[in-house]
Amino acid sequence: MQNLIKEKKYKELLEYIRDEEGEYIPLQFSEKSKNFNPKINITEIPKIEKQEKPIITIENWQESSTMEELNNAIKDCLRCKFGQTRNKFVFGVGNPKADILLVGEAPGADEDMKGEPFVGKAGQLLDKILAAINLDRNIVYIANVVKCRPPLNKTPDEDDYTPCLPYLKKQIELIKPKFILLLGAVALQALFGKTYKITHWRGKVINYGDIIAIPTYHPAYLLRTPSAKKEVWEDVQLLQKMYLEFKQEKKD
Ligand code: URA
Repeated sequence: MQNLIKEKKYKELLEYIRDEEGEYIPLQFSEKSKNFNPKINITEIPKIEKQEKPIITIENWQESSTMEELNNAIKDCLRCKFGQTRNKFVFGVGNPKADILLVGEAPGADEDMKGEPFVGKAGQLLDKILAAINLDRNIVYIANVVKCRPPLNKTPDEDDYTPCLPYLKKQIELIKPKFILLLGAVALQALFGKTYKITHWRGKVINYGDIIAIPTYHPAYLLRTPSAKKEVWEDVQLLQKMYLEFKQEKKD
C-alpha cells in the first residue's frame, strides 16, 4: 500500500524507474536515460513536497485570500457580545472586486433576519440613492463596520466596533476599492478616528491610503431629516464625477 502511494506521488512528480533493489530512481539519472551520468550517485530520491493551502478558520482568518474565504472564516465569530444575540452574521454583499465600497454602521432587525446589509427602510433609500447615480448593489460592495446587530439597535461606540473593525479593514484589503462612500459618523470615525465629525467632513475627499473616501450622511438619518437629502445628493454626485473620471482614465 505504501509503495502504491509512493508510486503515485513519484509519478506525478517525475518519470522514474526502479533499480534492482526496488528503489526508485528518477529516469533522468538511470541507465535508460539519454542523460545517464554514472558519476552522479543518487542515493536519495529528491523530495518535492506539494504546497498545501492552509485551511482558513477563525484562528487564522487574516490569511484569507478571497472574500468568500474570509466570510467562511469569521461568520461564527463570538468576539463581542453582539455575536451572542445575533440571528445572522452580516458579512456584506455585492461585487467583491468593486471599485466602490459603501460602509454603513451595523445591521438592524431586517438585516439580522436576512444576513444582508441595508435591506430595511434605510436600505431602500440607499438603493434609490445608488440608482440616481447609475449604480446598484451588484456593481458596488456594501458592508458595515459592525457585522452583528447591536441589541435595541444601539449606535455602536468605539468599544463596540473595535473588535469588529479588523474584519472591515481586511475586506478593504481584499476588495481594493478605488472609492469608499462612508455612510454616517460611525463609518467615518471607525476608519479615521473619533475627532472626525460628519457635519464637517461630509462631501469632502479624504485619503484612506490610496483610496478616496467620501463621507456622507447615513440613509437612516435622511429618513428622519429629509432636508439633509440635498447634501447627500451633492456628495454622491461628487462620487459619481470622480468615479466616471477614473473609468475614463482607465480607458485612455
Ligand atoms: N444601517 C446600517 O448602517 N447598516 C445596515 O445594514 C442597515 C442599516
